Amino acid sequence: MRARRALLYVPASDWHKLQKAATLGADCVCLDLEDGVAPNMKAEARQLALRALQELDFGRSERLVRLNGAESGLQAEDLAATLPGRPDGLVLPKVSHPEQLRQISQQIVQHEAAQGWPAGSLALLAQIESALGLVNAREIASGEPRLQALIFGAEDYASDLGAKRSTEGREVAYARSAVVTFAAAYGLQAIDMLWVDFRDGEGLARLAAEGAGLGYSGMQIIHPSQIEPVQNAFTPSTEELAAARRVVEAYEANIAEGRGAFALDGKMVDMPIVKAAQRVLARAGE
Ligand code: COA
Ligand code: MG
Repeated sequence: MRARRALLYVPASDWHKLQKAATLGADCVCLDLEDGVAPNMKAEARQLALRALQELDFGRSERLVRLNGAESGLQAEDLAATLPGRPDGLVLPKVSHPEQLRQISQQIVQHEAAQGWPAGSLALLAQIESALGLVNAREIASGEPRLQALIFGAEDYASDLGAKRSTEGREVAYARSAVVTFAAAYGLQAIDMLWVDFRDGEGLARLAAEGAGLGYSGMQIIHPSQIEPVQNAFTPSTEELAAARRVVEAYEANIAEGRGAFALDGKMVDMPIVKAAQRVLARAGE
């Protein structure tokens, strides 16, 4: 699966930002038709999203479109208006039931067939951002082959619960851990919550390191200044890579001599630690 370390939202109603977003080198650029767009700008946003997909060169960035939610009454038109631009994938917000993914996927199947695009090539990424979405996360994560990632939406989730947002995020800790767990259980990527205070680089770095530590493979972002620190936070550092290589090498030497558990720098190493090291290497493409 492709790297999705930073997923940058751009309100699709803003042509200047769309043009800019295409040049920034984010792993994913998400043309937003949902909550970043004012209700009276939805039609305009659809047209500009299509134009951006058709006219702008996004370089190595994945081109995603975030539709409005299944219950908004806007989704069918969002889909019809933007599919002709052949995005790489769709972000579906406020997913609360697996049926919502199935319905979208059926419409995509028809469009792929009509256009002669390879079946299943268009990816889906589902946002879990409500109590019901979290309760149904197992069915949502397991039912749709096109689904590649779960995205945790902390702001909507907290608001659905009536929880008060705090800097430490204790009120969303359970859901944040649950989303990454459901994603791992079904072989999906997990994309973490936002840091909305985009002038606060320290807070961003703290949250990104925490998300990477929890097992997330990337996070959502809203501002160009957040791309580089976030993509770095979700890339293993040189020290982490060196340590992981040492563990794997020591493991190989030890199993050759019939030892599954061994000591390295005064600490016990066995299979879970070796697997974690292998994952770090895989993340860096080794
Ligand atoms: N994508 C592309 N370009 C962006 C951008 C984004 N998400 N956010 C800001 N920029 C551009 C600005 O247009 C500006 O460009 P310029 O220097 O060429 O004029 C530059 O980056 C610096 O922006 P800045 O002045 O610091 O911020 P702003 O006041 O223009 O915008 C926000 C602040 C929060 C409104 C803006 O970052 C934004 O729209 N973020 C995405 C919001 C969104 O999609 N929300 C829904 C999903 S959670
Ligand atoms: Mg949301």
